[in-house]
Amino acid sequence: MPIVSYPSSPLIPTLTLLLCLPVLFYFIAPSFLPPRRLTITAPDEFDDLSLFHKAISLSSSTSTSVKSHLPSTKSRLGSTSTFRPKIAFLFLTNSDLYFIPLWEKFFNQTRPSLYNIYVHADPSVKITPPTGVFADKFIPSKRTQRSSPTLISAARRLLATALLDDPSNAYFTLVSQNCIPLHSFNYLYKFLFDLHKLSKNLEYLSYIEILSDSPTLWDRYNARGENVMTPEVSFDQFRVGSQFFTLSRRHALKVIEDRRLWNKFKMPCINVESCYPEEHYFPTLLSMTDLEGCSQYTLTRVNWTDSVDGHPHTYNPPEVSPELIHRLRRSNSSYSYMFARKFSPGCLKPLMEIADSVIFKD
Ligand SMILES: *[C@@H]1O[C@H](CO)[C@@H](O)[C@H](O)[C@H]1NC(C)=O
Ligand SMILES: *[C@@H]1O[C@H](CO)[C@@H](O)[C@H](O)[C@H]1NC(C)=O
Ligand SMILES: *[C@@H]1O[C@H](CO)[C@@H](O)[C@H](O)[C@H]1NC(C)=O
Repeated sequence: MPIVSYPSSPLIPTLTLLLCLPVLFYFIAPSFLPPRRLTITAPDEFDDLSLFHKAISLSSSTSTSVKSHLPSTKSRLGSTSTFRPKIAFLFLTNSDLYFIPLWEKFFNQTRPSLYNIYVHADPSVKITPPTGVFADKFIPSKRTQRSSPTLISAARRLLATALLDDPSNAYFTLVSQNCIPLHSFNYLYKFLFDLHKLSKNLEYLSYIEILSDSPTLWDRYNARGENVMTPEVSFDQFRVGSQFFTLSRRHALKVIEDRRLWNKFKMPCINVESCYPEEHYFPTLLSMTDLEGCSQYTLTRVNWTDSVDGHPHTYNPPEVSPELIHRLRRSNSSYSYMFARKFSPGCLKPLMEIADSVIFKD
């Protein structure tokens, strides 16, 4: 009698079935499962942590206080300090930077000693290497995807790189490839470094939207599962705000020092429809750490009228006009909007036509 009688073995059909299951699943799955979302892997987390550590240890050894930026500051040798704070522009993109010529015009109006540019571009997308002021501004980047924590990671990577790169970076402005400037560089610079606009603690304010009521807040709070965010973030601490912000150096540092909230926000969503981690992580963290130091308004205008699938209104070339620029600048706070989104690539031409006469004339 053979030890194993193949034809009669019940193992064969069972094995066949088991082997078929993943194959079947593979073909059927896409129709009923949501698309796979990127997760934060251990190696990616490790890379980021070592970058953050470097930036944190450098920053603890350099002064970032407003006082060091005051024009009257005397150095130890008695000469008046020529130290001028810079604005770090952080471009977060997953496509070509359509508005480079417009931004270049914006930067060309000033001295290179007053700003820095850093670009985080999704490495899985083929991007035309830019020339001019954007050449060589790309930082080591990782893949990004909506409805995943990767957009938070990318923003933190930009903040850490800029903190580490230049101790003169005093403000950190996050923009995307669909953002445009609404004022000249000098207008923005004077606004940000106006010493009358300091917080109660005499520190630079951060310009980040922080809202506590939104009809979708509860679903978004529970996007990773019920009660998952506690105890780190209770529902009454959970905030929402625009993904695009201008942070002070002090707050940029706070963001990359955080581990506690990140450990929750980096968890993948179960409910992908309510998953916008980048719109919650920054406002929640800063409202919990230093609400007084935040204006609670963003400097980036966005039009949510008739939004489709979580995307705001995208302006098309026929909509571009001097009136549109004036309308987009108008805000409900005491100051004007400085940037706006979203603009379709075709808007470059009409925007360039009104750049000198309207956008940068202020
Ligand atoms: C900005 O300045 C550079 C160097 O002077 C010049 O090559 C470039 O054409 C300028 N760009 C724009 C859009 O004005
Ligand atoms: C906002 O978008 C809507 C269309 O979705 C448009 O009618 C409206 O004029 C836009 N508002 C501004 C201020 O551009
Ligand atoms: C200003 O506030 C009004 C009333 O709350 C609102 O309808 C309008 O959209 C706001 N405008 C801007 C630019 O946010």
